[in-house]
Amino acid sequence: MSNLSNKIINGIRTVAGKNNLPLHEPRFDEVEIKNLRKCIDSSYVSTVGKYVNIFEKNISDFTGAKYAIAVVNGTSALHLALKLVGVDRNHEVICPSLTFIGTVNAISYLGAKPHFVDCEEKTLGIDPLALSNWLDEISIKKGNKTINKKTGRLISAIIPMHTYGHPAKIDQLLKISKEYNLNLVEDAAESLGSFYNKKHTGTFGKIGILSFNGNKIITTGGGGALITNDSSLAKKAKHISTTAKVPHKWRYIHNEIGFNYRLPNINAALGCAQFEKIEKFLKSKRDLFNKYSEVLDSIEGIKLFKEPKNSKSNYWLQTIILENGYENEFEMILENTNRNNIMTRPAWDLIHELEMYIDCPRSPLPVSKSLSKRIINIPSSAFLL
Ligand SMILES: Cc1ncc(COP(=O)(O)O)c(C=O)c1O
Repeated sequence: MSNLSNKIINGIRTVAGKNNLPLHEPRFDEVEIKNLRKCIDSSYVSTVGKYVNIFEKNISDFTGAKYAIAVVNGTSALHLALKLVGVDRNHEVICPSLTFIGTVNAISYLGAKPHFVDCEEKTLGIDPLALSNWLDEISIKKGNKTINKKTGRLISAIIPMHTYGHPAKIDQLLKISKEYNLNLVEDAAESLGSFYNKKHTGTFGKIGILSFNGNKIITTGGGGALITNDSSLAKKAKHISTTAKVPHKWRYIHNEIGFNYRLPNINAALGCAQFEKIEKFLKSKRDLFNKYSEVLDSIEGIKLFKEPKNSKSNYWLQTIILENGYENEFEMILENTNRNNIMTRPAWDLIHELEMYIDCPRSPLPVSKSLSKRIINIPSSAFLL
C-alpha cells in the first residue's frame, strides 16, 4: 500500500474507529418513528397534510427565506425554479461542470443548454473573476439581454452551487449576474446550514433550492424545496408543483400544465423530526472536521478542505484535496481506503465530458479538471466520533 494511503487510513481510523465507515449515513431515532406513526394514523400520507406546512415553516424559519415550497426532490425544485425565472427552449444557462448531474439535467428539462464555467480552488464554486472575464469575451448586450456571440442564444440564468456545503462567493456572483441580466438560481442542495456573511445560502438570488435526499444533512427520504422572498414566485411554485390545480370543493380544475412535484406528507413527517435535531447534526459535523484536521493536516501531499473566508459551512461532506504533484496517488487512495471499509468517493465526473453534454458551450475549465483528479470525500456522517 502506498505510504500516503496508509497515512490517510491511519488518520481516519484514529478519528473514527468503527469497522465499517460509510460516506454519509442518515440518523433517526424515536422522534421520526413517532411522527411517521402519527402521519400513518391520520391517513394523510400524500400531498395534503399538516406536516408539509410545518416542514415548510421549519425551512423558512431556519434559512430566513420568507417562503419555502416543499417538493419531491432537489432536481425537481431546480426544474421549477429555472422555469419560474423564465428559462426557456434554446436559452443558455451558466453552471459549473464540477457538480451533481441534477444541476445540469434541470436545465435540459426546459430545452435549454448548459454553458459550463470554471470553479476556483478556494471555494470549489464558480470562480467570479474567470466568469466575468469569460462573459466579457463571449457575450454581447442587446438591450437588457445577454447574447452568446458564437451561438446567438440568449444567456438567461446562472446556477451557482455550494459544493459539499462550502459557500461559493455568492455576493460577487450575484453582482455579475445583475450586470449581465442573468437570473440567479442558487443550488443550495448541499448547503442547508451554510451561511455566507451570516446570510443563509440559497437566499441570495431570486430563488434557491435545497435537497433532502437520504445523504443530505437532514433527510425526508427523498425531498427538496424552493426558497424565495418573492411572494409571486412562491405562489406560482406552489401552484405548478401541485398539478396547477385550482382549489375547488370537488372539481378537478387545472389551469395550466403543472407538475406532480409536491412533497408527500409522510416524507415531510420525517423532515419535521429531522429539523428538531439539525443544530446537533451541524455541531457534530464541525467537531468531526476539527478532529480530522488534528490528524490529517500534518500529512504532506493532502489538504483537508476548510470553510472559505466569510463563510460558515455545514461541513456536509469532509473533503481531502491532493496537492498538485500528488495526482498519481488518487486512484490508489480510493482503492485502498475502500478496500479497508472506509468509504471514500471522488468528485463527480465532470459534466461537460459526459456524452450528452459534450457539445455544450464552455469556458476553459483548468481548475475543474484539476480538482476532479484531486478531490476525495471521506466518511462524514454526523456522530462518527
Ligand atoms: C449539487 C446538487 N444539486 C442538485 C441535487 C439534486 O437533489 P436531489 O437528489 O434531491 O434531486 C443534488 C443532490 O443530490 C446536489 O448535490
